[in-house]
Amino acid sequence: MPALRLGSIAPDFEAQTTKGPIKFHEWIGDSWAILFSHPADFTPVCTTELAEVARRAPDFAKRNVKVIGLSANPLNDHDKWVDDINDYGCKFAPTNVQFPIIADPDRKISELYDMLDAQDATNVDAKGIPFTIRTVFVIDPKKIIRLTLSYPASTGRNFDEILRVIDSLQIGDKYRVTTPVNWKKGEDVIVHPSVSNEEAKTLFPDFTIHKPYLRTTPLKVE
Ligand code: BEZ
Repeated sequence: MPALRLGSIAPDFEAQTTKGPIKFHEWIGDSWAILFSHPADFTPVCTTELAEVARRAPDFAKRNVKVIGLSANPLNDHDKWVDDINDYGCKFAPTNVQFPIIADPDRKISELYDMLDAQDATNVDAKGIPFTIRTVFVIDPKKIIRLTLSYPASTGRNFDEILRVIDSLQIGDKYRVTTPVNWKKGEDVIVHPSVSNEEAKTLFPDFTIHKPYLRTTPLKVE
């Protein structure tokens, strides 16, 4: 099967999760989704990541994003680990993991999403079997993959950045704009190259031409 790319339809699957069985596409429904894998249950970096994802639940909900984790462990491990995540997370701020975590002990979904990387020597267990890597798939309501990330086992992901990309994608889907380096919601955006200057006068009355190919504008977002 060819690798999943931006623009691919996210493969559908059925799975057992900590919140019950799901059919992935049905579960996504009309929302955006983040599917993210981590190497294994009861591992330190993963514990900090899942606690943070739990604490950011309002940020995901505000953007109509559902979040679902995955590791190649059985459901009973996930359930025990969730207690640890909440316990540790509460040292920093109230933490209550409510998002589902997929149990993928036979690695069927990990393989479907190409989440196993046997080439990364830092991401194998004591027997040399690859863990799932730290992948992120952002999937839109049409089930199209809009972002993929692969992080090394040693490095926890930055969920501010993932939310930032979702803000950019959602704004880009709604308005004919793109977003510049280090952009954050509320800052000026770039007028899409397909918009002529004539159109821009109507669409973005306050736009500025810096170069013929680089025009920026403030954007009021509802
Ligand atoms: C961790 O989450 O801390 C971790 C998992 C697998 C390999 C290395 C680190």
